[in-house]
Amino acid sequence: MRGENEETIFLKDYAETPYVVEQVELDVRIAPDTSTIRAFLTLTPRAATAPGTPLVLDGEELTLRSIAIDGLPLALTAYETTATGLVVHQPPNKRFVLETEVAVEPEKNLRLMGFYRSSGTWCTQCEPEGFRRITYYYDRPDVLAPFKVRMTADRKLAPVLLSNGNLVEQGTVGNDQHYAVWEDPFPKPAYLFAMVAGDLGSIHDEFTTASGRKVALGIYCTHGKESECLYAMDSLKRSMAWDERRFGREYDLDIFNIVAVSDFNFGAMENKGLNIFNDKLVFAKPETATDADYINIESVIAHEYFHNWTGDRITCRDWFQLCLKEGLTVYRDQEFSMDERSRPVNRIEDVRQLRQTQFPEDGGPLAHPPRPDRYKEINNFYTATIYEKGAEVVRMLATLLGEAGFRRGMDLYFERHDGEATTIEAFIKVFEDSSGQNLQHFQQWYLQAGTPELDVRDSYDPASQTYTLELTQTNPPTPGQPEKQPLVLPIKFGLIGPNGSPMSWASVAGAEVRDEMIVLDRASATVTFTGIPNKPVPSLLRGFSAPVTLTTNATEADQLFLARHDSDPFNRWQALQDVAMKLMVGAFRGTAWTDAQVGALAEALEETLNSKELDAAYKALAMSPPNEQSVARTIEHDVDPDRVHAVRGELITALVARLAPTLEKIYLTNDSRLAYSPDFQQTGRRSMKNTALSLLVQGGASGADKLAREQYERALNMTDRLSALSISVHSWTADAQALLGDFRTMYTADPLVLDKWLALNAGAPDDGVVDRVRAILAAPDFPQNNPNRLRALMATFGMNNPTQFARADGAGFRFLAEFVGDVDKRNPQVAARVLTAFRVWRSYEPGRRAEAEKALKALHDAGSLSRNTADILERTLAG
Ligand code: TRP
Ligand code: ZN
Repeated sequence: MRGENEETIFLKDYAETPYVVEQVELDVRIAPDTSTIRAFLTLTPRAATAPGTPLVLDGEELTLRSIAIDGLPLALTAYETTATGLVVHQPPNKRFVLETEVAVEPEKNLRLMGFYRSSGTWCTQCEPEGFRRITYYYDRPDVLAPFKVRMTADRKLAPVLLSNGNLVEQGTVGNDQHYAVWEDPFPKPAYLFAMVAGDLGSIHDEFTTASGRKVALGIYCTHGKESECLYAMDSLKRSMAWDERRFGREYDLDIFNIVAVSDFNFGAMENKGLNIFNDKLVFAKPETATDADYINIESVIAHEYFHNWTGDRITCRDWFQLCLKEGLTVYRDQEFSMDERSRPVNRIEDVRQLRQTQFPEDGGPLAHPPRPDRYKEINNFYTATIYEKGAEVVRMLATLLGEAGFRRGMDLYFERHDGEATTIEAFIKVFEDSSGQNLQHFQQWYLQAGTPELDVRDSYDPASQTYTLELTQTNPPTPGQPEKQPLVLPIKFGLIGPNGSPMSWASVAGAEVRDEMIVLDRASATVTFTGIPNKPVPSLLRGFSAPVTLTTNATEADQLFLARHDSDPFNRWQALQDVAMKLMVGAFRGTAWTDAQVGALAEALEETLNSKELDAAYKALAMSPPNEQSVARTIEHDVDPDRVHAVRGELITALVARLAPTLEKIYLTNDSRLAYSPDFQQTGRRSMKNTALSLLVQGGASGADKLAREQYERALNMTDRLSALSISVHSWTADAQALLGDFRTMYTADPLVLDKWLALNAGAPDDGVVDRVRAILAAPDFPQNNPNRLRALMATFGMNNPTQFARADGAGFRFLAEFVGDVDKRNPQVAARVLTAFRVWRSYEPGRRAEAEKALKALHDAGSLSRNTADILERTLAG
């Protein structure tokens, strides 16, 4: 059913390598067209290794030029090269040095894995399996070794030569060449190896660690972009200080470098001492970067820096444990951004992202547990489940153990596992050992896929003054996991009395209740509170304390009450979302809302917007109704995206009819001409202002289109300009096309701004979008090999254009599937990622479902797909 075959890799088959790598020395000659890598690997058989056990190393697209052991060339019969690597049939029975020389062609490497060239700069990407495209090696995360790397290149083409660790030697060779020797004292797996050679500008700074060591910091970039790296540098220094404060983690080398490159498959990469970044996550200036860009830069710089401890010093035993480093590191970067900005606002945004990216994954054909037990292509497991759900699982652990208890566990983790490649089980064990709690049941979160559904019904008995919550969890089946166990759900809650203040109780029974948290570890429980004088309104799952979908018997009146009185800011926001969602889903199913219902929602919104204690960023979130995708997800089956779009538009129109004066006032009072700063206060005010404008335009308020056009024209920063443009495009106003044209000509030279234009084009809801995007893609100067450009256009079309991707005539599905077939020949990772847009295909109404299936089958029948894309396609069709 899941199409497992000989390509499937299973967790249960894990075994150590028969040979240990003690030391790696590389001698790399970098030159246009062909570069060569000589590798000297010091290898020793393990005690248990039978004499003569073959040495089987990974290798891909390498041309072997010579091979020797302990200086003696090997006979042709002593070894063999295959499509996947190198076999030395009978290596020595004691320590030996394997010496190989291979040739590679970075300029032809369009997959951007291994050694490749990006706009003139030579660079590497090794995670997860790219090192095998550089030299023959045990390309797996449990093989740790110290690396020493000599790089030689032309002085003009590549004045900058960087690798991991410390620079120990450099000099010239003849007239044109030079070399640098880098040594990394920390044993590391090959996926953390990195090397950069090119003609780059740079900025430099310094950080003094808590124990007084000076670390030289550098950020390298295209010449001319240096001043755009300052915010990244500032973020780096704040990250370094935060990790010392919050987790007691100091940086461990004398140098920390970051390089920004233009062609990159992912956001960034945590190579030891030499992080490599997608340049969109480094470059920022107010005229071209939005507030959202600044926020992303800050969090990804932090993420990669934090990997130094959670990823590099302690790494993964195998790729099944990916979430050990990624989930934990996302948790850490989320906490950092919360401390730097706002806890409630960031929490809401993180949950919005989880619901938007992870929930559809978990509820569809690509669902998998945070710790999978099988895969065909590991690149397809860098998912929202591994990252975002992985972070939620760590967050629950912190919730269950408390801040101090969690910190004690983390301290033990660093102490016990430093220098190791370890597992999820070992991670859980440190928290058991440091807290004395049994976490075996909790661990099931890592092993089970799917989003739990939590249902809570309350009732009140005035006679006995008891209040009861009946909790039920359901864990739906997912591909390969038909049956599920109940999970451990930490449910933070509060009871709110009729006057809006918190209510306490005399006693509580029926489940484990600690302070204001119910720990539900069974399928169902009935929790009874005594000494309750009036019926309270419950505030459940405060702070979104578990990644579940929650249903309750709360009335609209209860939810509006929570929107006013809940002391938990997350639930206050959630209550407004819930009311809007209820109205939209009801209308979709044929029950139109009444005037009184919209009126009540508008009133609650107005009260929130007028609140003195809430900040602007929070208010902006409160006034944004759930997006079309989340409405579709709540409807679940037989979705017609056009009707979802229409219903949402009608609700906004109805709200704006009541709120226009308030929104206009917000717009005017938050429109500032202050010098730009990306700080939380200013960002919040811009966000509130632009959300107000967006609602006014969507709701058809008179003069709003003109306001958007004027803002576009007189904007002083990219946030305001792009917001105005995006608002016009998403409502496809009379100005939209002209403004798009203007934006295109204004920023022709800046590729990162071009991405914004591409995304706007691809996300517009007008009927011309497929033809327009097709034409953009077919233009002779379109950068066909750049992942940022391709994703801005096609991932946006697939993921953020719900009506046009899922057009009833199937044209959107066909367009995306054809694109995937084409780009798969050049960059399988980009192709596979874009294809995941189809993961929701079974939720459409029958006509669209049939069209989606046809497009997927046509892609399948066209044949010769990469392993990446074939894996996603097979699972999407099967699940
Ligand atoms: N480890 C990187 C991170 O911080 C992820 C990553 C970077 C990656 N480049 C990649 C994953 C290429 C797969 C392929 O999250
Ligand atoms: Zn990461």
